[in-house]
Amino acid sequence: MTTTEQTVPRDLAQLEARAAESLSPESLGYIRAGAGDRDSTRANAAAFRRWRIKRRPGRTPEKVDLSTTILGTRMPAPVLFAPVGVQTLAHPQGDLATARAAAELGLTYVHSTQGAYKMEDVARANGDGARWYQLYWPTDDELVASFLSRAAAAGYTHLVITLDTTLLGWRPLDLDIGYSPFLENKGIANYTSDPVFQRKHMPVPAEVAPLAAGVAFAGVFQNPGLSWDQLPLIRRNWDGPILLKGIQSPRDARLAVKHGIDGIVVSNHGGRQVDGAIASLDALVPVVDAVDGRMPVLFDSGIRTGRDAFKALALGADAVLVGRPYLYGLALDGQRGARRVMRTLVDELEHEVRRARHRSHRTLSRSSLTRAR
Ligand code: FNR
Repeated sequence: MTTTEQTVPRDLAQLEARAAESLSPESLGYIRAGAGDRDSTRANAAAFRRWRIKRRPGRTPEKVDLSTTILGTRMPAPVLFAPVGVQTLAHPQGDLATARAAAELGLTYVHSTQGAYKMEDVARANGDGARWYQLYWPTDDELVASFLSRAAAAGYTHLVITLDTTLLGWRPLDLDIGYSPFLENKGIANYTSDPVFQRKHMPVPAEVAPLAAGVAFAGVFQNPGLSWDQLPLIRRNWDGPILLKGIQSPRDARLAVKHGIDGIVVSNHGGRQVDGAIASLDALVPVVDAVDGRMPVLFDSGIRTGRDAFKALALGADAVLVGRPYLYGLALDGQRGARRVMRTLVDELEHEVRRARHRSHRTLSRSSLTRAR
């Protein structure tokens, strides 16, 4: 059966089941993977079930306005495409298709350092869309500078630095099947296209030796020595706003404020990095309290529905990022599938905000929720 947009299910469990049928075991394993026995990935989802949405008294508003502005980026809804590398695992058009879907919806697209397509090509696909760049901070300063100047030239306005992947998580699913996308030359185009990477780290072209490219990537991008002292390097090379992704503790949030960071993303990488990490949603409230309005706090890890997005926003997130769900849509129907999944999520969020009798998500608060018994 040819998949059409109508056959991309709105129901998340069905969406995942259908995508699972269409993906190879290796791709499905890599996308679904969590660290360890996926305890934190499951905890992420379970944390949302512990909250219930309350309706406030009064009339149901005619219309809801979900629009917002985060650090100068206008958004029709507080929902972003999370940075995801190696999207060609889900569909040959990979990040080109999702960048187009994001532009169609007006939602912000965050492009990964591990993108399957070059940031310049993704920028073209994204056209007039809003786009941010996600950086895995390599150990080579010259490479950092090269990435940042390419990103700025290609119209990426904000930098999202991911902090939780200085070492790759322990992922038994991938280890058991002996799989890494990099062995297949996937997810390497963005960095192997970089002139500095080619000159210093990639003596053999990636088309000839994809394995060597993957190994070189691991060598430069695993960066356990990353520290606050290195921040001035980024500041010297990047004029736009800087967000840190992977914050889980109030202490780190306060440090981010102290170091003049512009925003943070509370995230545990969808549970892919540290097994046994607390659910990302449980980290949100203490972080929001510590930040105390001094910078925007974004959230991801575990958002599957508009109801989930509602809960994260009510607990204090300014916007949410979504990862795996749009990959499932992408797997089933490329650009249209990714668009449909994200549109469904935004439509449901709008519905829930209206049902809770708010005109905007901005008036949601902790009192919009109650603990499930
Ligand atoms: C990711 N994520 C991720 N994050 C990042 O900063 N850079 C990256 O290259 C990737 N790559 C990546 C690949 C795959 C297959 C997945 C599933 C995830 C993490 C992503 O940005 C986000 O934090 C999580 O996906 C959010 O959790 P959910 O929505 O998947 O539960």
